[in-house]
Amino acid sequence: MLKSDDFYTVTIENSQEKFTIHKQYKIIRKVGAGSYGSVCSALNVNTNEVVAIKKCRHIFDKKLITKRCLREMKLLQHLNGHPRIIDLRAMDIVDPRTFNEVYLIQSCCDTTMADIIHSKLELEAVHYQWFMYQLFSGLKFIHSANVLHRDLKPANILVNENCDLRICDFGMARGFVSPSDHVESQYMTHYVVTRWYRAPEIMLSRNTYDKSIDLWSVGCILAELLGRKVLFKGTDYVDQLHKIVGILGLPHDTSFWDNSSSVTEYIKNLRDESGLPPPTEPIDFRIVFPHAPTEALDLLQNLLCLDPSKRMTANGGLEHPFVAAVRDPAEEVECSQPFDFESFELIESEHVLRQCIVEEVMRSKGLEHDAFRQHSMSSVNSQPSRRYTGSSISTPSSAFVTEANLNAIHAAQQGRDVFQQPPDPSQFQYMVMNPEQFVGEPEDMDEDDMKLMDSDDSDIHVGKRRTLVGPSNADYRALERHLSKDW
Ligand SMILES: Nc1ncnc2c1ncn2[C@@H]1O[C@H](COP(=O)(O)OP(=O)(O)OP(=O)(O)O)[C@@H](O)[C@H]1O
Ligand SMILES: [Mg+2]
Repeated sequence: MLKSDDFYTVTIENSQEKFTIHKQYKIIRKVGAGSYGSVCSALNVNTNEVVAIKKCRHIFDKKLITKRCLREMKLLQHLNGHPRIIDLRAMDIVDPRTFNEVYLIQSCCDTTMADIIHSKLELEAVHYQWFMYQLFSGLKFIHSANVLHRDLKPANILVNENCDLRICDFGMARGFVSPSDHVESQYMTHYVVTRWYRAPEIMLSRNTYDKSIDLWSVGCILAELLGRKVLFKGTDYVDQLHKIVGILGLPHDTSFWDNSSSVTEYIKNLRDESGLPPPTEPIDFRIVFPHAPTEALDLLQNLLCLDPSKRMTANGGLEHPFVAAVRDPAEEVECSQPFDFESFELIESEHVLRQCIVEEVMRSKGLEHDAFRQHSMSSVNSQPSRRYTGSSISTPSSAFVTEANLNAIHAAQQGRDVFQQPPDPSQFQYMVMNPEQFVGEPEDMDEDDMKLMDSDDSDIHVGKRRTLVGPSNADYRALERHLSKDW
């Protein structure tokens, strides 16, 4: 079914990276990179459409990477069709016997929320409303399939110039274990979410976490949209907790955390520079975000709730007055069936995992393009009826992408090469977020990368009462080791 003659190899932007793809695709340019793959835009010469091709590379180097890849392939198919989740149009491997990489073909989006936040583009209330509404609608769908995304952050939220948003990167996703089950799934780890977007209970509770960790990340993203700065920019895990407690305060009752843990004990002994304990109430967000709509701040407070059981849910978000004006019941749907993690998460044999990946690709090849989408689509079939009518949310990099795509289509029509030279980085002086600097799993946590992530190193100003230090006799290093461990 797969003929290697149908594939050809392209070297991407003078680097060592090579894409071996079907001849129907002509690479335009590299549009992104993460820890596990590179993403290129490409022209499908059969349809004249621009697509994104994500190469998941070296997938058999470690079992963690093989599983991540298989998980993403399966989840994208299961969730395919929801307008707020990145689609999966096709999958390719070159040779089923020897492959070491998988290509996922998706719709190509103009930019990411990270680019928008850290550009100079002026954002208005209507943008926050659309972004938040779409995030809630996408999350409602994901959570209804009993899936936790676990790595929501601005770089994993794709955005088009018409303000359409799509959640991507499901490599970290896991199943949700209902609290009534009282069992922690064997494949569920505590190592989740890039540090700045990580809910405190992941570090302070030994019990299983739940869907509310994704809502915490949404709160961090809303704050970053409003303030154009990372809200809790911890320099390490312990400092992450200092930042969270500094900004949100420490309530008297912390029974929602594991109060027997040494970390909770440490948190309770945090003091400001005058030796006073942290305030019990959150900071006044009206002072931190003076231009934000009042309802946006109410939403923020509900999302950044320390007690996970009181934190707003995706459904609660959809019902919040802040997004009422942009609501569209047509897209607020649930997934028709839960996603089945059990069928593959416990597989340990590389050979079996390889077979699973081959089967996924072969099954998708056996179905015509539309049938593939239809088959994998769980329940959604409708496109939203309500549309954003505000101005285009163009940034220097999204404008470049749009132009590159148009040039590629023209070039293909005239029989010329569609490959575009990489952009001159100086064109993007506003684009400080480089996706290659984002990290996602234990092996990849590189502190230098985290520091580089934001060239604007000023933190949100919180004042002396909320700048906290731990007790002088505390073993900071031991705590940090404990928190960074996958326990
Ligand atoms: N469909 C798409 N259209 C346009 N750009 C995309 C698309 N998918 C991914 N990208 C870009 O590529 C980057 C990396 O993609 P993705 O997050 O899926 O990869 P990853 O290796 O799994 O990432 P991570 O390092 O977060 O684990 C994104 O941040 C985004 O900039
Ligand atoms: Mg990513």
